[in-house]
Amino acid sequence: MSNFQIEAQNCANDINNALDEALSKEQFFEPYGAIPKHLLLAMRHGTLNGGKRLRPLLLRQTAAIFNVPHEQTIIAGMALEMVHCYSLIHDDLPAMDNDDLRRGQKTVHKEFDEATAILAGDNLLTLAFEILASPKDHKETELRLKLISELAKSAGACGMVGGQMLDLASENETLSLKEIDNIHAMKTGALIRASVRMGAIIGLASDRELIALTKYGELAGRAFQLADDILDETATDRQLGKTTGKDKKSGKATLVANIGVKESKVKLLEIIEQAKAALSLFGEKANSLRASVDYFGQRES
Ligand code: IPE
Ligand code: IPE
Ligand code: MG
Ligand code: MG
Ligand code: MG
Repeated sequence: MSNFQIEAQNCANDINNALDEALSKEQFFEPYGAIPKHLLLAMRHGTLNGGKRLRPLLLRQTAAIFNVPHEQTIIAGMALEMVHCYSLIHDDLPAMDNDDLRRGQKTVHKEFDEATAILAGDNLLTLAFEILASPKDHKETELRLKLISELAKSAGACGMVGGQMLDLASENETLSLKEIDNIHAMKTGALIRASVRMGAIIGLASDRELIALTKYGELAGRAFQLADDILDETATDRQLGKTTGKDKKSGKATLVANIGVKESKVKLLEIIEQAKAALSLFGEKANSLRASVDYFGQRES
């Protein structure tokens, strides 16, 4: 295994263990009684089902530039992953992308029902902020408030939720490349940008460092959604664990639909090089972040 693969595997193991514990019934008993069993099972199905955990990985790699031990990035990483998993549960609903398969398993509304999937997503979103408010990893109140604010802004109407709205509104519409780029930056890029910025916030980055890392995060987010759109066209359901070929069928606004797979791959490599160039300030300390964005361009699942 490469260093990147080992790092990604270690991060996924840590986050999986922490999510498993946070979503165990013991955590939910007091003072109102147990969480409805059905709801807990649906939340577990939507989170503990083999995600790549790339957002916690970016956070941890960024914090490591500032010598923050990865044990101090678990709660923030979990919060990011909870918001991400909620966004996927809702993204798959019939009213949105109407998908039956996610991470190689039935989507939450297929395994349970639509109301349960909506509520499981709602609760993952709420829980993300509940755990971020806890002083376990970060004693300083101001630091926790900065993390909460960063995650809230990226997940909200000018970030992921707004991007999802525009994504749906743009089905079968003709958009300029700039408009497509903006939808992608919002629906997917915002949370990836926040992952990097939250790592920088935990690491007490200077303004100059934060600006450089933000630029990297924005470019990495663009690369990530572009790769997702290319894979939707070129990969199999089995490889991705989700139904492929859906973007074309739904008339989604993608770069692939506008300029084709070949040109999109060229663009992807360009964006990856720009993302790596944004890290020059950090020298070798940012090699892990460079490896991550390289992986975004090479991933097959
Ligand atoms: C998929 O994200 C949805 C997009 C934002 C494009 P990931 O590819 O990170 O999904 P998981 O968490 O690994 O399943
Ligand atoms: C999803 O984009 C972005 C989210 C905010 C969830 P997609 O709709 O392309 O993601 P997949 O392909 O279903 O994972
Ligand atoms: Mg979608
Ligand atoms: Mg989708
Ligand atoms: Mg997709």
